[in-house]
Amino acid sequence: MTESPAPPATQPRSTSSPTAHVSARSVAAACAASGRFALAIIGPGALGLHFAARLEGVVPVALIARDAAAAARLRAGVEVDGRGFRPQAFGPEQAPEADWVIVLVKAGDTATAAATASRMRPLGVLSLQNGLTGELLRAHCAAPRVDQGITTEGAYRERGDRGDRVHPSGAGETLVPPGFEAVAELLVRAGLRARVAPDIAHARLAKLLVNAAINPLAALFRVPNGALLDPPHRVLLDTLVREALPVLRAQGLDLDEAAALARVHAVAHATATNRASMLQDMLAGRRTEIDAITGALLRMAADRAVDLPAHRAVHTLVCALEP
Ligand SMILES: NC(=O)c1ccc[n+]([C@@H]2O[C@H](COP(=O)([O-])OP(=O)(O)OC[C@H]3O[C@@H](n4cnc5c(N)ncnc54)[C@H](OP(=O)(O)O)[C@@H]3O)[C@@H](O)[C@H]2O)c1
Repeated sequence: MTESPAPPATQPRSTSSPTAHVSARSVAAACAASGRFALAIIGPGALGLHFAARLEGVVPVALIARDAAAAARLRAGVEVDGRGFRPQAFGPEQAPEADWVIVLVKAGDTATAAATASRMRPLGVLSLQNGLTGELLRAHCAAPRVDQGITTEGAYRERGDRGDRVHPSGAGETLVPPGFEAVAELLVRAGLRARVAPDIAHARLAKLLVNAAINPLAALFRVPNGALLDPPHRVLLDTLVREALPVLRAQGLDLDEAAALARVHAVAHATATNRASMLQDMLAGRRTEIDAITGALLRMAADRAVDLPAHRAVHTLVCALEP
């Protein structure tokens, strides 16, 4: 949850697609008749359930869980934003066909989710994960369109004896690449802020900068994001930003040092009380997304024969502390 504020709009929020002009009821009827869903979400965690619950009533959504048992638990009901929600959940082997698939598993589960997505014979597969997962997704997924957007929507999951509860943790914006107009339209109809971003590559790099600076430090120091703005953490935060910037600029990030620092500080400030997802993963003994975030940055740097010692150090430390 170290998400960056979205860059300024380059296109109206509402996009047009054939899907937009038919009612939810008629889409549901067509879906029931064909067995094919207009939209599926792979990964019924915090964000997947948040999106699915918001989309209920707009379009039938197939929610694909890790396995059939997890899908059955979801069908029995889960609490999202204080309300009961009974999703149309499936295990990967029972996943129905779907026009559009959103991938919201953690980065380490991308390859498995991509294989599931391929079997759903979609028009397009869209990752809204943190880190750079687009290439991995493309490598394992056969679909006419496979790409990565970004989202600054926030949600967290509370696991309890009586099932999971998902709480939204801040309204954000979802940017999707050109070609995914239909997905943006559905999200907008669900009351979420979403738009097509022709400059999606830039948005991904800006988000990578923010995540690579905030996430590992929050996890290593076990502090909420806002604490990184104060000594002694601040010097490390700014070091990570300054060190990453030349590599990200060479990839196309159009931010000078002052703007890059300001962007990271603004996100740390806006999410001051949030615990970054990497911190939550580490506290829960789960694998983190360090490889899709800092690892991706280090691979970019290696391609340019650039060393990033501070990022290499935090990568090593986070990996050493993972289960
Ligand atoms: N949460 C946020 O506020 C937020 C904001 C922006 C971006 N993101 C990004 O969105 C992605 C998802 O985050 P999250 O917080 O929603 O994670 P999460 O709560 O851990 O949810 C991931 C879900 O995917 C399931 N899963 C794992 N492998 C699967 C597979 N092969 N097939 C189907 N489902 C599978 C997990 O099942 P188990 O429960 O069995 O592990 C879990 O339900 C991450 O990349 C994250 O960085 C999150």
